[in-house]
Amino acid sequence: MRVVRTLPTLTRAIAALRMRRARIALVPTMGALHDGHLSLVRLAQKRAERVIVSIFVNPTQFAPNEDFRSYPRTFASDRKALAAHRVDLVWAPSAETMYPEGFGTKIVPEGAALAGLEDAFRPHFFAGVATVVAKLLIQCDPDVAIFGDKDYQQLKVITRLARDLNLKTRIIGAPIVREKDGLARSSRNVYLTPDERKAAPTLYRVLKECAAQIAAAQPLGAVLDEGRAAITRAGFTLDYIEARHSETLEPIGSLRDGPIRLLVAARIGRTRLIDNVGV
Ligand code: PAJ
Repeated sequence: MRVVRTLPTLTRAIAALRMRRARIALVPTMGALHDGHLSLVRLAQKRAERVIVSIFVNPTQFAPNEDFRSYPRTFASDRKALAAHRVDLVWAPSAETMYPEGFGTKIVPEGAALAGLEDAFRPHFFAGVATVVAKLLIQCDPDVAIFGDKDYQQLKVITRLARDLNLKTRIIGAPIVREKDGLARSSRNVYLTPDERKAAPTLYRVLKECAAQIAAAQPLGAVLDEGRAAITRAGFTLDYIEARHSETLEPIGSLRDGPIRLLVAARIGRTRLIDNVGV
């Protein structure tokens, strides 16, 4: 497995991977890899002969008050895990390679990026994500790129971005990998204290209960009010719990109006967690 840190080397390495018309899959990550990331790698291997994993903690998607500096960086163990998974290439550029002196271009997505979910609490976030993902897709030019349902709004924004910019890459979503007790795997789970960790599965439990009630035709507003109360009782500060159209992320009144995704974001202690389920 090659670890590549500069663009000229990347271009040469990708040309070599492409020999004999091999298809290439890209799995973009910020490192601190866990089973969720590795499930994307396994899916990538089913969709392509060659797999590139990028590891880059992207400064432009963090606000000054967020956790860019403390974000877990575990390159040595990430590298080991990816080598064990027989990944072909790790693309790990420096911040200077991604954003050299004079860098002055930003992709500011609209549509799903303005749905009033993550964007309402992290207004800088999707421009940072869209810009770096567009760069990664252009740099690696993969046939497919895999993103997790875990960051559901992000997946929708990137799917649209690839279409809108006529990128050749097919964007593929992958199911959420969870701990045994239901907590969605996340690089940020290491921030949780033991007590917070005990409370954390509440998010998924509440999402599932709400989904079951909505599927049983209970009124959406009342179901979400109950969910809101349960999450707050467990010690969280709720950013949002919302029912949205699964594709457009627009507000939705009932199951008759289309497939529903329930999305939640909440803070406990210093940790912000997100999760979602389909109804
Ligand atoms: P990161 O948080 O490292 O996540 C990388 C990819 O792993 C994303 O597509 C995310 O949805 C997926 N993922 C994370 N936890 C998962 C889980 N429990 N189950 C399934 N997939 C999971 O998302 C980012 O990095 C960045 O925003 C990035 C797209 C790399 C741009 O910087």
